[in-house]
Amino acid sequence: MSKIKKITCIGAGYVGGPTMSVIAQKNPDIDITVVDLNQARIAAWNDENLENLPVYEPGLDAVVREARGRNLFFSTDVNKAIAEADMIFISVNTPTKTYGKGKGQAADLKYIELCARQIAEVATSDKIVVEKSTLPVRTAEALKSILDHTGNGVNFHILSNPEFLAEGTAITDLHNPDRVLIGGESAEAIEALVQVYEAWVPRERILTTNLWSSELSKLVANAFLAQRVSSINAISELCEVTGANVEEVSKAIGQDSRIGSKFLKASVGFGGSCFQKDILNLVYIARSYNLREVADYWEQVILLNDHQKTRFAEKIIQTMYNTVNGKHVGFLGWAFKKDTNDTRESAAIYVADHLLAEEANVVVYDPKVTAEQIYKDLDYLGTRSPEDNRRLVRVVNDPYEALSGAHAAAVLTEWDEFKTYDWTRIKEDMKRPSFVFDGRKLLNRLELETLGFAYYAIGE
Ligand code: UDX
Ligand code: ADP
Repeated sequence: MSKIKKITCIGAGYVGGPTMSVIAQKNPDIDITVVDLNQARIAAWNDENLENLPVYEPGLDAVVREARGRNLFFSTDVNKAIAEADMIFISVNTPTKTYGKGKGQAADLKYIELCARQIAEVATSDKIVVEKSTLPVRTAEALKSILDHTGNGVNFHILSNPEFLAEGTAITDLHNPDRVLIGGESAEAIEALVQVYEAWVPRERILTTNLWSSELSKLVANAFLAQRVSSINAISELCEVTGANVEEVSKAIGQDSRIGSKFLKASVGFGGSCFQKDILNLVYIARSYNLREVADYWEQVILLNDHQKTRFAEKIIQTMYNTVNGKHVGFLGWAFKKDTNDTRESAAIYVADHLLAEEANVVVYDPKVTAEQIYKDLDYLGTRSPEDNRRLVRVVNDPYEALSGAHAAAVLTEWDEFKTYDWTRIKEDMKRPSFVFDGRKLLNRLELETLGFAYYAIGE
């Protein structure tokens, strides 16, 4: 197989956009077109002002500035881009099904299938089709079947190349990955993709496996990471009742090189588009093979995470004398973690929902998330009418405004800037007693208590 000259990526989201930007940056001789049906999204990727890129990632603007217009293009012309490419990445969303069989657990493969059908219809030359989206095991088989049965007699090779980047550090993760994983059946197709990554990734970090191992490894990597967070969160509750301090416990166990120190930070609960979805997928697959114990084991990671979010909201209510009705709770942060504007499955959404059910007035400040997104997240839950969400929730652009007159402050995201605020000023503007509920163990207990705050942190 000759060297890849043209790549198309279908889906210009959190995965497709940054990944293709870096591949283009490192392979100036390969033309890369990222396509999406969403015109507004493509317009934003093409915006002269790099602050308007649809994805906020530190360092992404510099990569786009270097490659865009040179060998990196964003377009809505999906068919043209498919027709021209030697290699097509599928990087569309695979949300959890909200209907029918596997509702709430299985991945909805509707978008993937539509892509496959479109590729089959348009392609008039051989293509390597790369699964970039996280998919259930054996999706490649379905893809291959659709491509081969509906295509124009051209050859399709399917590769699985799961993405391990984490949001907020996507560019450093892409520049310096722990490993790149490529699964496939055709040695030639695998080698073609290896060459793309070899432009900057040392060969020994590029692992090649069979298709199913690659697909499953992605789910398992996320399940293990999420399991660590749920494990330490379970311990955080035990710490609160026993007087142990979860940060000290994390440090003590993390220094054991067999355990390691990463992903042991207790929090209000993990969020993001991957952890919950991937575990649900794993559970669904296990159940569909009748592996009940395996399914139950992994499901517990999610149940504990749900418990942690509820527990945090309950703690706020209990501490504030068992009623938050009409009380002003200022939220610092809405994103599922710092340095991203992504809010998918963010703990903040569920904590807010719980407090709103008790008629609290929530005022939100997040450095990167828009008011529109916050209302969309709440409306999507369907717990109450959009009018009620707007009646109870206000979104502001200034953290001091979020906390002015507040009965309580709640830290939902670990944005660094929250640490640098003038907490003396905040204390003066808040109601008394002035409660701070730190869902990220971000702030300094001693400093806040000295200022007169009633400070509660997860795991202490
Ligand atoms: C994750 C995986 O890390 C990445 O490899 C995969 O490709 C996609 O899913 P991401 O969802 O971007 O990445 O974020 P991650 O940093 O893994 O954090 C996930 C959630 O866990 C966040 O809500 C974060 O706040 C939480 N978390 C993480 C903790 O609460 N404690 C920790 O110690 C680590
Ligand atoms: P991820 O986090 O996996 O990147 P996103 O939702 O951020 O997920 O991005 C997926 C993108 O894929 C969306 O912008 C969506 O419009 C796009 N998309 C979905 N289906 C198609 C399709 N058939 N053709 C082109 N783009 C698509």
